Amino acid sequence: MDKIVISGGRTLNGTVRTSGAKNAALPILIATLLAPGEHRLANVPELADVSSTLSLLGRIGCPSLVNGSIRLDTSRIAFSEAPYDVVRKMRASVLVLGPLLARCGQAKVSLPGGCAIGTRPIDQHLKGLEALGCRFELSGGYIHGHVDDLVGADIQLDMPTVTGTENIVMAATLARGTTILRNAAREPEIVDLCNFLISLGARIEGAGTDTLVIEGVSRLRPATRAYRILPDRIEAGTYLCAGAMAGGDVTVTDCEPEHLQPLLRKLEAAGCTIDTTATSLRIRRDGPLKGVDVRTEPHPGFPTDMQAQLMAVLSRAEGASIVEETIFENRFMHAAELKRMGAVVETRGRVATVRGVESLTGAAVMASDLRASAALVIAGLSAAGRTEVLRTYHLDRGYDDMVGKLRGLGAAIARVPDDLHDPAALDEAMGLAPTPGAGSSTSEARATA
Ligand code: EPZ
Repeated sequence: MDKIVISGGRTLNGTVRTSGAKNAALPILIATLLAPGEHRLANVPELADVSSTLSLLGRIGCPSLVNGSIRLDTSRIAFSEAPYDVVRKMRASVLVLGPLLARCGQAKVSLPGGCAIGTRPIDQHLKGLEALGCRFELSGGYIHGHVDDLVGADIQLDMPTVTGTENIVMAATLARGTTILRNAAREPEIVDLCNFLISLGARIEGAGTDTLVIEGVSRLRPATRAYRILPDRIEAGTYLCAGAMAGGDVTVTDCEPEHLQPLLRKLEAAGCTIDTTATSLRIRRDGPLKGVDVRTEPHPGFPTDMQAQLMAVLSRAEGASIVEETIFENRFMHAAELKRMGAVVETRGRVATVRGVESLTGAAVMASDLRASAALVIAGLSAAGRTEVLRTYHLDRGYDDMVGKLRGLGAAIARVPDDLHDPAALDEAMGLAPTPGAGSSTSEARATA
């Protein structure tokens, strides 16, 4: 197993390119099941979750070829099943439910358990698909779904669930008649999925609003011309937070600034200067960070997937900040690890109070989930001394070459086997010249002022 080591205290300078969005790529890859044939997709990020999705599709009977873009052949479905060993690693596998039911009239999908950030039930997915005529049985930890005739319906969601909206929309594209989905999620990744489905011949209106109208069609055609996945706003936001934390001058390219407005407003209020072009964001910070309050909400509110990264930034801001997490009931696991680095964070239920400190100190910390691991890397960039982030597999699920991209911005960071402890070897891996007579990297860099 690997760990990530960081020698903190260097400012970040330069340009970093945004990859395709994980949370658009996964539903779009799975949506190809709706249209038999060969599909082409471009700007698909190189992530563990993408590999898991391609292996799941392979087990269903749909081979793929990856060389820059992706070719995926969904002509034949051998097994309409998502087994436990895949779903337990990646909850998003539950997204095969709608397409398999629409295409094959049946599906067997392992019921996703809870995860580090919450219980995450799928009752809304099932409620919506039942409204379209599906019937479900739960046995042996699996959801067994059947449908004879998929018929459009008027569905009201109890909350704007992202993957719930996606599952229902995908099934509704091949249903007889019209489906109205109310209180639908409005995330940009949902708009990208709808645009992809429309490019296959689906009839969808209202993408990006809370009411989607889907006129069912009898068949969809494969994406023979490569469909380009939208940029990852969460990845772009993560590098903006890295720039805010470490100081310096960072430009994030190939992103959609419009999708990041809630975060940009918070970073500006925290004292950062942000320059925007149509496809890039430049962040600089001249003075100290200032505390800001933040409350996560469904899009277009502040994204829960940026909460941990912003908390890391606020741990060094002057004054106190209130962070309220309204989407997931257990998404402060990073707080305890930040405290190991000297941060002052008090959590009560879904509210955290962050009191900014002068500096953080490097430590060995444990990643608990994808965004928590990004927050720990961001904290390590500004901490004095060396930080070691363990359980990097969390990071690999959603960040395409984070170490390489941060090194490109001048960070002293490396990925090494987790049993490597020799300071000189670690310094060398991070690209730090050994200091004559000094045992470790602390003499190299001091915490950024
Ligand atoms: C998606 O998860 C994203 N994952 C998550 O990103 C993201 O945090 C989340 O949306 C919120 O933005 C993907 O797109 C693959 P939800 P999803 O259903 O769809 C409750 C990351 O870091 N709920 O919108 O699973 C649920 O428990 C990941 O990239 C029900 O009660 O989230 C939660 O409290 C983490 N019943 C809330 O709704 C349901 O049937 C929102 O969950 C469905 C959801």
